[in-house]
Amino acid sequence: MPQIQLTLNGSPATVDYEPHHRLLDTLRYGLALTGTKEGCGEGECGACTVLIDGRPANSCLVPTYQARGCDVRTVESIPAETLRPLLESGATQCGACTPGVVVTSAWVRSNPELIETHTLRQLMAGNLCRCTGYDGIIDGVQQGLDMDAESRGAKP
Ligand code: FES
Ligand code: FES
Repeated sequence: MPQIQLTLNGSPATVDYEPHHRLLDTLRYGLALTGTKEGCGEGECGACTVLIDGRPANSCLVPTYQARGCDVRTVESIPAETLRPLLESGATQCGACTPGVVVTSAWVRSNPELIETHTLRQLMAGNLCRCTGYDGIIDGVQQGLDMDAESRGAKP
């Protein structure tokens, strides 16, 4: 079985993978990181979002070998604090989209300068949700940004 080396959730890792497996498959079935979900399998829904080198990526579209040498973070490595405002704002109903939303929210909160040039709806547009109508998701990410600004001593 081929192997790749990468940084996975902050630690160096050597990972065996089936040659035909997408990164999504390797995470879920090879590594039991089942927080990353499969929705459409076609790069449309964002349920499978992970961070690759700090940017959101649809792991259903990434052949495993393309992650060699990359810094991959899955929802398992995102602090629970990222989920809290999303829960409080009603951003979760069935939960199918939630792991991907959490990952993208963590990306936005790590890069708050993005909101100078993009709306939150644009930044979260890669994560489809059938349930919430998106208002709760946007409110939750905004609440997270406000909490971060407060903790930095900046006015939200
Ligand atoms: S499962 Fe990857 S984008 Fe839908
Ligand atoms: S909460 Fe059901 S798809 Fe988003």
